[in-house]
Amino acid sequence: MCGITGYIGYRQAYPIIINGLQRLEYRGYDSAGVFLYHENDIRLTKTKGKVADLKALIPPENTTANIGIGHTRWATHGIPNDVNSHPHTSQSGNLVIVHNGIIENYDTLKKELINRGYTFKSDTDTEVLINLIEEIQISKKLKLGKAVQLALNQVFGAYAIAVFDKSKPNEIVVARLGSPIAIGVGKNNSEFFIASDASPYIEYTKKTIYLEDGEMAIVRLNRDIVVRKISTDSPVGSNIQELHLNLEQIEKGGYEHFMLKEIFEQPKAIVDTYRGRMIPHEGIIKMSGVDDNLEKFLNARRIVIVACGTSWHAGLVAEYMFENFARIPVEVEYASEFRYRNPIISEKDVVIAISQSGETADTLAAVKMAKERGAFVFGICNVVGSSIARETHTGSYTHAGPEIGVASTKAFTTQITLLTLIALRLGQANGSLSKQEFYNSLHSLELIPDKIVSVLANDAHIKYIASIYKDAPNCLYLGRGYNFPVALEGALKLKEISYIHAEGYPAAEMKHGPIALIDENMPIVVIATKKGHYDKVVSNIQEIKSRNGKIIAIVTQGDTVVKGLADHVIEIPDTKEAFSPLLTTIPLQLLSYHIAVMRGCNVDQPRNLAKSVTVE
Ligand code: G6P
Repeated sequence: MCGITGYIGYRQAYPIIINGLQRLEYRGYDSAGVFLYHENDIRLTKTKGKVADLKALIPPENTTANIGIGHTRWATHGIPNDVNSHPHTSQSGNLVIVHNGIIENYDTLKKELINRGYTFKSDTDTEVLINLIEEIQISKKLKLGKAVQLALNQVFGAYAIAVFDKSKPNEIVVARLGSPIAIGVGKNNSEFFIASDASPYIEYTKKTIYLEDGEMAIVRLNRDIVVRKISTDSPVGSNIQELHLNLEQIEKGGYEHFMLKEIFEQPKAIVDTYRGRMIPHEGIIKMSGVDDNLEKFLNARRIVIVACGTSWHAGLVAEYMFENFARIPVEVEYASEFRYRNPIISEKDVVIAISQSGETADTLAAVKMAKERGAFVFGICNVVGSSIARETHTGSYTHAGPEIGVASTKAFTTQITLLTLIALRLGQANGSLSKQEFYNSLHSLELIPDKIVSVLANDAHIKYIASIYKDAPNCLYLGRGYNFPVALEGALKLKEISYIHAEGYPAAEMKHGPIALIDENMPIVVIATKKGHYDKVVSNIQEIKSRNGKIIAIVTQGDTVVKGLADHVIEIPDTKEAFSPLLTTIPLQLLSYHIAVMRGCNVDQPRNLAKSVTVE
């Protein structure tokens, strides 16, 4: 979490940094700051609040500079206030730093620095790091790059940093361990851009270097970038990659919020996920990451899926699919729990890590642990070139395009699509699926994007339902089978963006607790599609009805039974039960979105959350 931007070159740095921070606000937005260097003058402005608050504080006449760094924060050490905001300066005021991550041994380092006469203005671990760098630089009479390298060798934790030294105003030193950092390279090295991801500089250059874990670089004007290993200070080759991202993809395109845009992008995103991989009329699924490792999948004792948040919910849907289509046992684990247990994992297991950002710290750590124990690790990520994509043995990208709204929408449905392809491919390969079942499934899946279009056409009706329940203090979501994870996801969506307390439950479990909460004030969203244990769910609806709960039911088009019982119904087209989550999830996203907007919440940047959780 936290977003970093920086610029050094011939253009005005301020607009690049401030616009870049706005693009990175998905990474954290509780405080922001910018530092500009101009003619020996350090201008530092920082504030609690969003990048827009920061912008309002800086008079345009104070923005002239060709070098600077900026930061948007998601607090870890120290509450979000002006003082704890980044950038931080060293005791002498000569060094400036922005940092994304956590320095775990900051307390010990801080005590040592206090003994050596350092005082601290903030409560942050970052101020400790910049003073450690300064202490090494002064006591050993070293240049900035070397001092940074030695300091980082004393540090435990995770970081992406950018450091500036007033006495070397033509360079910025960057380093990473655990948190991402990218460098945009301008023509003939005449300018460089630094950022947590490439979005802040896509209109200026397509040439990018993604630092790997344990690497640092001295970014120096008019010089080639030299990447070095932090542990040994030895040079490693710098791999300049071409970016395939454009400005349009990260703008709102006429929608009021990114979340709404991303909900409506789902039909296209799903086509982008299966395009080139699924050829229904030929009865083919080809995915190189799977095909090249087919034996590993087919001989696996089990598949373990690790993920966090919404990605974990996609994993739960996949569990039903892998077991049904391919008859391979599956366990789905929260990455954070998996990594701190002593899981029984060996070369007999296949681990699938699911992550939109590809940067989630717990998922990344789980991947590393599974690899160490000999498992074959397959990554499902959206962000190309992300840490998890690189760390896994192989994998597939979802190709959903940038997801900027903090609440995940199209990432979820594209993850499910990709996992469906894998499950179908394995079921075909090991004979669990007949030729006909396989073929029919491909045709059903191909129709899903058009069916989503028809669900999206219910938006006005869903908005009306939202207007009735926008003030509810609690909400329950129920589903069974494939739609149990959708109930969890629906509840998560509502609580994360509208701050209404919501819980998802397997419908039958309602009797073991949640039923006690039901009264005439309680809205209950029930997924009651025709093919998913329909009769059982209808019984559950009766039980709610007799306790006067308000029922919002997601039903299959043409349903009459549930229509007669529910207070509201939202119809979705019929499809195979296994593919229904791709449809049932859409109205739940829209319901949460409209409720949150009506409650005046910031749907794209909900309080306390961040999109990319690069701390444990
Ligand atoms: C955060 C985001 C969620 C996301 C989760 C996992 O909590 O707010 O939307 O599902 O992280 O992120 P990942 O990038 O690993 O899918």
